[in-house]
Amino acid sequence: MMNDKLSQALNDQLNFEFYSAQVYLAIAAYCSGESLDGFANFFIVQAEEERFHAMRIYKYLNDRGKRVYLQGMDTPKNEYKSILEAFEHAYEHEQIVTRRIYDLSDIAMNDREHATIQFLKWFIDEQVEEESMFDSIINKLKRIDQDSNAFFMLDNEFAQRVFTPPAV
Ligand SMILES: [Fe+2]
Ligand SMILES: [Fe+2]
Repeated sequence: MMNDKLSQALNDQLNFEFYSAQVYLAIAAYCSGESLDGFANFFIVQAEEERFHAMRIYKYLNDRGKRVYLQGMDTPKNEYKSILEAFEHAYEHEQIVTRRIYDLSDIAMNDREHATIQFLKWFIDEQVEEESMFDSIINKLKRIDQDSNAFFMLDNEFAQRVFTPPAV
């Protein structure tokens, strides 16, 4: 049986994943407001992924006989000076998420809660992908700088992104 400290920490992370979805949907709304529909689509898909992460924890807590509790959320950042600033915010957000997942893993390891250590492995791998994706887009945006052709090509590319839920 998982102890309450660990299940509460997982429940907090479930809520934080929903908050991440809000953060990205707010960035999508900013992009839509700038008529950058491809970038908006990119962040709408990102928000869907975050809700999927939350539901992964939802299922896990239920499987372990623990009750899920939803919490209130802070208002996400809605205004940005540029697309680059929005991606930098997203990258910083992912680094916070990684820290939180590591803290969760520490609690699970201290409890020798092997099932949860195993469960969190997927999230640890996912964070490597998330950080690397945002880092590489930021580098691209910096290289593009004032080249509006390259910028709109990237907007077009991001219009193609679709949400594909990975196998659970
Ligand atoms: Fe996530
Ligand atoms: Fe994420």
